[in-house]
Amino acid sequence: MLYKKVAKIKEALSAIGIGCWNFGGQWDNSVGDNTIALVHAAVDYGINLFDVAPVYGYGRAEELLGKALKGDKRSKVLIASKCGLVWNQKLENTNNLTKKSILREIDESLQRLQTDYIDIYQLHWPDKHTPIEETVSALEEIKKAGKIRYIGLSNFGQQDMEQFMSMIEISVQQSLYNMLERNTDSYHNIPLAYRTESEVLPMVKAHQQAFLPYSPLFQGLLAGAFKKEKNFSENDIRNANPKLRGPLFKKYYDGALAIGAFADKIGRPINEIAFNWLRQKEEVTSIIAGASNISQLERNINAMTWNLTEGQLTEIETIIAPFKSL
Ligand SMILES: NC(=O)c1ccc[n+]([C@@H]2O[C@H](COP(=O)([O-])OP(=O)(O)OC[C@H]3O[C@@H](n4cnc5c(N)ncnc54)[C@H](OP(=O)(O)O)[C@@H]3O)[C@@H](O)[C@H]2O)c1
Repeated sequence: MLYKKVAKIKEALSAIGIGCWNFGGQWDNSVGDNTIALVHAAVDYGINLFDVAPVYGYGRAEELLGKALKGDKRSKVLIASKCGLVWNQKLENTNNLTKKSILREIDESLQRLQTDYIDIYQLHWPDKHTPIEETVSALEEIKKAGKIRYIGLSNFGQQDMEQFMSMIEISVQQSLYNMLERNTDSYHNIPLAYRTESEVLPMVKAHQQAFLPYSPLFQGLLAGAFKKEKNFSENDIRNANPKLRGPLFKKYYDGALAIGAFADKIGRPINEIAFNWLRQKEEVTSIIAGASNISQLERNINAMTWNLTEGQLTEIETIIAPFKSL
């Protein structure tokens, strides 16, 4: 395993981490009962970062991760969880970064994860109805109590980021970033207040934070297994991504085919190209990738064994140039 170290985090982080969203039942190939084996295999391969959130499977992903890490594995890894997306009985989500909600969420997460502390606690999405001062006050309180070690922002725009950073130490940034979504303005139909490559990465670099790109494989499109259509069932969470079905899909599918042709030319699988394109950027710390099973995990880890050359990176830049602002 390769590790990356940033000034704001004591431990070096594995260059590939595990995204745990699909542990919890909202994806066709949710890991479910196989989670324990997948997590144990990842730890054995040297992966030391697991990114999860309360809302993934409505508590289920945190529960499964907690079960898998219970015992001697817990101290070997960093758990990155989140707060700020809460759901009601109808499973409708609301953005909520009020102090009251965060104080409740942290205790529920700790209980589900069977741990006394969360290493990286990230604000999942902005909540425009709550003053930043109130959210910061909650974070200060739980950090002082030892319930969290580091604080991260996910999906925040530059102005909000700067305001948070002026009030509290922000060690981690997490945003949408992959070869075909570099400065994109939407995610699952939600407008994004940030542009990753042009705004978030320079801030990460300037503040020596850890950067965790999410959806590194474009939810599977950059893994090479997608067909022209019907890539998942009606119940799969990816239906909420308009870029993966309907009229928008063709452009991204063609982009993936072009990267696939380059991958064939250099004799490497496309998923490894997608990972190394990210990993070889100095701002990228740990790529939080979802995996449905141990075989996918191993195929993703394989990317850590080689590097794209400067010439190959230049060639890739030409291939994906049409996606620079998408
Ligand atoms: N902060 C946020 O707002 C936010 C938003 C989204 C995600 N995230 C985090 O980022 C993590 C990763 O993002 P993501 O889950 O959206 O997408 P992703 O990592 O780009 O894609 C994961 C999916 O790709 C497929 N896959 C992975 N490796 C493969 C391989 N070697 N061969 C073939 N298929 C492969 C699997 O799906 P199939 O096998 O089902 O095709 C897997 O579930 C999440 O788990 C979560 O922790 C955060």
